[in-house]
Amino acid sequence: MIDEARLQSMLPVRGLGQPFHFFETIGSTNDFAKELAKGDAPHGTLVVADEQTAGRGRGDRRWLTPKGTGLALSLILRPERSMQNRVGVVGCMAALAIQEGVLKEGIKAEIKWPNDVLIGGRKTAGVLVEAAWEGTDLTSLVVGIGVNVRIASVPPEEQLDYPATCVETGLGKSVDRMVLLLGILEGIARWWPRLGSEELIGRINDGLAFRGREIELVGGEEIIRGTLVRVKPDGRLRLMTDSGEINVGIGGMRLHPLDLELG
Ligand code: BTN
Repeated sequence: MIDEARLQSMLPVRGLGQPFHFFETIGSTNDFAKELAKGDAPHGTLVVADEQTAGRGRGDRRWLTPKGTGLALSLILRPERSMQNRVGVVGCMAALAIQEGVLKEGIKAEIKWPNDVLIGGRKTAGVLVEAAWEGTDLTSLVVGIGVNVRIASVPPEEQLDYPATCVETGLGKSVDRMVLLLGILEGIARWWPRLGSEELIGRINDGLAFRGREIELVGGEEIIRGTLVRVKPDGRLRLMTDSGEINVGIGGMRLHPLDLELG
């Protein structure tokens, strides 16, 4: 179990994590955080659950977090108006924070555009960013993060649409979930003021999976094939296709490498 009192005593991390809401069990931390964000929950509000029974992934996929096995958290961020054109990169920024947090534990991970983290080519964490608007004003972002930490958090093979693993399998030893959580929060707090900066985009691209490799982007009926070039400061993906270089927005796009290499 995550020790609520211990976690509370370590918050906030550089301004993130207060107020703090903890649930032993919840449907979805993102759903709860979105409700809070409709009210006056401030920037940095954190929702953490030990178990999620109706967690959501991108594109209406399910994301389950069995008790005591993973990390399920949602963070409310309130961007200033001047940041609105840079929020497309928040998913990659959160993936970078997860990658850095996992590296502190001792293992290298890669960022899979737009919102996943891979260890040995297998999905280990996912980010679901949900934005709320009032007219043309972006009022809040809820950044939902799910990390497979223990082996029991990895769904059975037949439920996967991408090969998956967990941090402890990659690392070969047990991990303190709270330390990992605090590391991820620290990364988000550090990068948030530098959203869209050259330094952030450079770090995302340094850790990006499949650079220079043939990939397919699939969104509904649309399939775009090309060589992955890099992530742009606005979060779009630059691809070299047969008809030249193009930038593809996140939308409902999912990325598949044409030659999947697993560790
Ligand atoms: C994905 O890979 O498609 C994104 C997965 C995001 C899962 C997290 S777990 C915490 C938060 N609450 C949810 O319902 N979803 C996100």
